[in-house]
Amino acid sequence: MKLCIDVITIFPEMIRSYASESILGRAQAQGLLSLGIHDLRDGAHDARRSVDDTPFGGGPGMVLTPGPIASVIRSANGGAGVARPLIALTPSGKQFTQAHAKALADSGSFSLLCGRYEGFDQRVLDDDVDEEFSIGDFVLAGGELAGLVIIEAAARLIPGVLGNEESPLTESFAEGLLEYPQYTKPQEFSGASVPPVLLSGDHGRIASWRLAKALERTLERRPDLIEARGGLSAAEMALLQRLDELEGAPKSD
Ligand code: ADE
Repeated sequence: MKLCIDVITIFPEMIRSYASESILGRAQAQGLLSLGIHDLRDGAHDARRSVDDTPFGGGPGMVLTPGPIASVIRSANGGAGVARPLIALTPSGKQFTQAHAKALADSGSFSLLCGRYEGFDQRVLDDDVDEEFSIGDFVLAGGELAGLVIIEAAARLIPGVLGNEESPLTESFAEGLLEYPQYTKPQEFSGASVPPVLLSGDHGRIASWRLAKALERTLERRPDLIEARGGLSAAEMALLQRLDELEGAPKSD
Protein backbone atom coordinates (compact mmCIF):
# COMPACT_ATOMS: atom_id res chain seq x y z
CA MET A 1 0.00 0.00 0.00
CA LYS A 2 1.29 3.43 -0.96
CA LEU A 3 1.28 6.35 1.50
CA CYS A 4 0.74 9.84 -0.02
CA ILE A 5 1.70 12.87 2.07
CA ASP A 6 1.31 16.54 1.13
CA VAL A 7 3.53 18.99 3.02
CA ILE A 8 3.02 22.77 3.14
CA THR A 9 6.14 24.68 4.19
CA ILE A 10 8.17 27.83 3.51
CA PHE A 11 11.27 25.59 3.37
CA PRO A 12 10.46 22.95 0.73
CA GLU A 13 14.16 22.12 0.32
CA MET A 14 14.47 21.12 4.00
CA ILE A 15 11.80 18.48 3.49
CA ARG A 16 13.01 17.39 0.04
CA SER A 17 16.61 17.08 1.15
CA TYR A 18 16.01 14.96 4.27
CA ALA A 19 13.40 12.83 2.53
CA SER A 20 15.75 12.02 -0.36
CA GLU A 21 18.07 9.97 1.89
CA SER A 22 17.87 6.69 3.76
CA ILE A 23 14.51 5.04 4.43
CA LEU A 24 12.38 7.88 3.03
CA GLY A 25 14.44 8.06 -0.18
CA ARG A 26 14.17 4.30 -0.61
CA ALA A 27 10.45 4.24 0.12
CA GLN A 28 9.88 6.87 -2.59
CA ALA A 29 12.09 5.02 -5.09
CA GLN A 30 10.11 1.83 -4.40
CA GLY A 31 6.82 3.66 -5.05
CA LEU A 32 5.66 3.04 -1.45
CA LEU A 33 5.75 6.71 -0.45
CA SER A 34 4.77 9.78 -2.42
CA LEU A 35 5.53 13.27 -1.09
CA GLY A 36 3.85 16.37 -2.52
CA ILE A 37 5.88 19.32 -1.25
CA HIS A 38 4.09 22.69 -1.56
CA ASP A 39 5.77 26.06 -1.03
CA LEU A 40 3.58 28.22 1.22
CA ARG A 41 4.92 31.31 -0.57
CA ASP A 42 3.15 30.13 -3.76
CA GLY A 43 -0.07 31.07 -1.95
CA ALA A 44 1.09 34.66 -1.36
CA HIS A 45 -0.11 37.20 -3.88
CA ASP A 46 2.06 40.24 -3.16
CA ALA A 47 5.39 41.05 -4.79
CA ARG A 48 7.35 40.05 -1.66
CA ARG A 49 5.49 36.73 -1.37
CA SER A 50 4.82 37.49 2.31
CA VAL A 51 3.24 34.85 4.49
CA ASP A 52 3.35 36.48 7.94
CA ASP A 53 2.35 39.63 9.79
CA THR A 54 2.39 41.16 13.29
CA PRO A 55 -0.11 39.81 15.85
CA PHE A 56 -3.29 41.78 16.62
CA GLY A 57 -3.19 42.82 20.26
CA GLY A 58 0.57 43.22 20.16
CA GLY A 59 3.32 40.94 21.37
CA PRO A 60 6.55 39.62 19.97
CA GLY A 61 7.12 37.77 16.71
CA MET A 62 5.10 37.24 13.57
CA VAL A 63 2.04 35.13 12.84
CA LEU A 64 1.43 33.20 9.61
CA THR A 65 -1.43 34.91 7.76
CA PRO A 66 -4.45 32.80 6.80
CA GLY A 67 -4.66 33.80 3.11
CA PRO A 68 -1.60 32.01 1.67
CA ILE A 69 -2.29 28.88 3.71
CA ALA A 70 -5.93 28.69 2.60
CA SER A 71 -4.86 29.31 -0.98
CA VAL A 72 -2.29 26.46 -1.03
CA ILE A 73 -4.67 24.08 0.76
CA ARG A 74 -7.25 24.60 -1.99
CA SER A 75 -5.10 24.97 -5.12
CA ALA A 76 -2.63 22.10 -4.50
CA ASN A 77 -2.74 18.98 -6.64
CA GLY A 78 -4.18 20.74 -9.68
CA GLY A 79 -7.03 22.29 -7.71
CA ALA A 80 -8.09 19.09 -5.94
CA GLY A 81 -6.61 20.46 -2.70
CA VAL A 82 -4.25 18.78 -0.24
CA ALA A 83 -4.90 15.28 1.11
CA ARG A 84 -6.95 14.92 4.28
CA PRO A 85 -6.63 14.83 7.23
CA LEU A 86 -4.63 18.06 7.35
CA ILE A 87 -2.36 18.16 10.40
CA ALA A 88 -0.74 21.37 11.67
CA LEU A 89 2.56 21.08 13.55
CA THR A 90 2.62 23.28 16.63
CA PRO A 91 3.97 22.99 20.20
CA SER A 92 0.40 23.53 21.43
CA GLY A 93 -0.90 20.47 19.57
CA LYS A 94 -1.79 17.06 20.96
CA GLN A 95 1.25 14.88 21.80
CA PHE A 96 2.15 12.74 18.76
CA THR A 97 2.61 9.06 19.64
CA GLN A 98 3.43 5.73 17.98
CA ALA A 99 -0.32 4.98 17.88
CA HIS A 100 -0.84 8.12 15.76
CA ALA A 101 2.05 7.06 13.50
CA LYS A 102 0.40 3.67 12.97
CA ALA A 103 -3.01 5.22 12.26
CA LEU A 104 -1.46 7.64 9.74
CA ALA A 105 0.53 4.86 8.04
CA ASP A 106 -2.70 2.87 7.65
CA SER A 107 -4.71 5.89 6.48
CA GLY A 108 -3.26 5.99 2.95
CA SER A 109 -2.86 9.76 2.81
CA PHE A 110 -2.62 12.89 4.94
CA SER A 111 -1.11 16.38 4.88
CA LEU A 112 1.20 18.36 7.13
CA LEU A 113 1.20 22.12 7.63
CA CYS A 114 4.52 23.39 9.00
CA GLY A 115 4.51 26.64 10.97
CA ARG A 116 7.23 29.20 11.58
CA TYR A 117 7.41 32.30 13.76
CA GLU A 118 4.78 32.60 16.53
CA GLY A 119 2.29 30.24 14.92
CA PHE A 120 -0.81 30.27 12.72
CA ASP A 121 -3.75 32.64 12.60
CA GLN A 122 -6.37 30.78 14.67
CA ARG A 123 -8.96 31.01 11.88
CA VAL A 124 -6.95 28.71 9.63
CA LEU A 125 -6.70 26.19 12.47
CA ASP A 126 -10.45 26.44 13.12
CA ASP A 127 -11.59 26.28 9.50
CA ASP A 128 -9.06 24.24 7.56
CA VAL A 129 -7.00 22.07 9.90
CA ASP A 130 -8.25 18.67 11.08
CA GLU A 131 -5.71 17.99 13.85
CA GLU A 132 -2.81 19.72 15.63
CA PHE A 133 0.20 17.69 16.76
CA SER A 134 3.23 18.50 18.89
CA ILE A 135 6.23 16.16 18.89
CA GLY A 136 7.15 17.04 22.48
CA ASP A 137 7.19 19.63 25.23
CA PHE A 138 9.84 21.86 23.70
CA VAL A 139 9.76 24.64 21.13
CA LEU A 140 11.42 24.30 17.72
CA ALA A 141 12.04 27.18 15.32
CA GLY A 142 9.40 25.73 13.02
CA GLY A 143 7.30 22.72 12.12
CA GLU A 144 9.59 21.28 9.43
CA LEU A 145 11.57 19.00 11.77
CA ALA A 146 8.36 17.97 13.50
CA GLY A 147 6.80 17.23 10.09
CA LEU A 148 9.79 15.09 9.12
CA VAL A 149 9.51 13.22 12.42
CA ILE A 150 5.90 12.37 11.61
CA ILE A 151 6.68 11.44 7.99
CA GLU A 152 9.46 9.07 9.07
CA ALA A 153 7.51 7.55 11.96
CA ALA A 154 4.60 6.78 9.61
CA ALA A 155 6.57 5.79 6.49
CA ARG A 156 8.67 3.15 8.26
CA LEU A 157 5.44 1.36 9.20
CA ILE A 158 4.34 0.93 5.57
CA PRO A 159 4.71 -2.79 4.79
CA GLY A 160 7.84 -3.32 2.68
CA VAL A 161 9.64 -0.12 3.70
CA LEU A 162 11.78 -1.73 6.41
CA GLY A 163 14.04 -4.59 5.38
CA ASN A 164 13.03 -6.68 8.36
CA GLU A 165 9.23 -6.79 8.45
CA GLU A 166 9.24 -8.03 12.00
CA SER A 167 11.08 -5.19 13.67
CA PRO A 168 8.18 -2.70 14.03
CA LEU A 169 6.36 -5.33 16.09
CA THR A 170 9.08 -5.73 18.70
CA GLU A 171 10.35 -2.18 19.08
CA SER A 172 9.66 0.38 21.78
CA PHE A 173 5.98 1.35 22.24
CA ALA A 174 4.62 -1.45 20.02
CA GLU A 175 3.34 -3.20 23.18
CA GLY A 176 3.17 -0.04 25.26
CA LEU A 177 6.66 -0.80 26.64
CA LEU A 178 10.15 0.51 25.95
CA GLU A 179 12.40 -1.88 24.05
CA TYR A 180 14.67 -4.39 25.82
CA PRO A 181 18.46 -3.83 25.54
CA GLN A 182 20.23 -5.23 22.47
CA TYR A 183 23.78 -6.60 22.17
CA THR A 184 25.97 -7.55 19.22
CA LYS A 185 29.58 -8.63 18.64
CA PRO A 186 32.09 -8.57 20.25
CA GLN A 187 31.01 -10.78 23.12
CA GLU A 188 33.39 -8.86 25.45
CA PHE A 189 33.78 -5.10 25.17
CA SER A 190 35.63 -2.83 27.59
CA GLY A 191 35.44 -5.50 30.26
CA ALA A 192 31.67 -5.92 29.90
CA SER A 193 30.19 -9.14 28.57
CA VAL A 194 26.90 -9.93 26.91
CA PRO A 195 24.26 -11.33 29.33
CA PRO A 196 24.78 -15.13 29.28
CA VAL A 197 21.10 -15.84 28.56
CA LEU A 198 21.53 -14.36 25.05
CA LEU A 199 24.20 -16.98 24.25
CA SER A 200 22.14 -19.85 25.64
CA GLY A 201 20.21 -20.66 22.47
CA ASP A 202 17.12 -21.11 24.68
CA HIS A 203 14.59 -18.96 22.80
CA GLY A 204 11.85 -19.21 25.43
CA ARG A 205 14.22 -18.06 28.15
CA ILE A 206 15.55 -15.25 25.93
CA ALA A 207 11.99 -14.04 25.24
CA SER A 208 11.19 -14.08 28.98
CA TRP A 209 14.39 -12.17 29.83
CA ARG A 210 13.66 -9.59 27.12
CA LEU A 211 10.13 -9.03 28.37
CA ALA A 212 11.40 -8.71 31.95
CA LYS A 213 14.04 -6.17 30.86
CA ALA A 214 11.43 -4.20 28.89
CA LEU A 215 9.19 -4.13 31.97
CA GLU A 216 12.08 -3.13 34.26
CA ARG A 217 13.22 -0.34 31.93
CA THR A 218 9.70 1.01 31.38
CA LEU A 219 8.95 0.95 35.10
CA GLU A 220 12.11 2.93 35.79
CA ARG A 221 12.05 5.42 32.91
CA ARG A 222 8.39 5.73 31.91
CA PRO A 223 6.10 4.67 34.76
CA ASP A 224 3.32 6.58 32.95
CA LEU A 225 3.37 3.89 30.22
CA ILE A 226 2.96 1.11 32.81
CA GLU A 227 0.06 3.03 34.35
CA ALA A 228 -1.54 3.46 30.91
CA ARG A 229 -1.49 -0.34 30.51
CA GLY A 230 -3.32 -0.69 33.84
CA GLY A 231 -0.25 -1.55 35.96
CA LEU A 232 1.69 -4.81 36.07
CA SER A 233 -0.12 -8.15 35.93
CA ALA A 234 0.70 -10.86 38.48
CA ALA A 235 2.60 -12.78 35.76
CA GLU A 236 4.63 -9.69 34.88
CA MET A 237 5.50 -9.09 38.54
CA ALA A 238 6.60 -12.71 38.88
CA LEU A 239 8.74 -12.37 35.75
CA LEU A 240 10.44 -9.25 37.15
CA GLN A 241 11.27 -11.14 40.35
CA ARG A 242 13.00 -13.82 38.26
CA LEU A 243 15.08 -11.31 36.27
CA ASP A 244 18.48 -12.12 37.89
CA GLU A 245 17.89 -15.84 37.57
CA LEU A 246 16.81 -15.48 33.91
CA GLU A 247 19.82 -13.36 33.00
CA GLY A 248 22.47 -15.91 34.04
CA ALA A 249 23.62 -18.99 32.20
CA PRO A 250 21.02 -21.77 32.38
CA LYS A 251 21.89 -24.33 35.10
CA SER A 252 23.21 -27.53 33.57
CA ASP A 253 22.16 -30.50 35.66
N1 ADE B 1 6.80 23.68 16.05
C1 ADE B 1 7.62 24.22 16.99
N2 ADE B 1 7.79 23.39 18.02
C2 ADE B 1 7.09 22.26 17.75
C3 ADE B 1 6.86 21.03 18.44
N3 ADE B 1 7.41 20.78 19.62
N4 ADE B 1 6.07 20.12 17.86
C4 ADE B 1 5.49 20.37 16.67
N5 ADE B 1 5.66 21.50 15.97
C5 ADE B 1 6.45 22.45 16.50
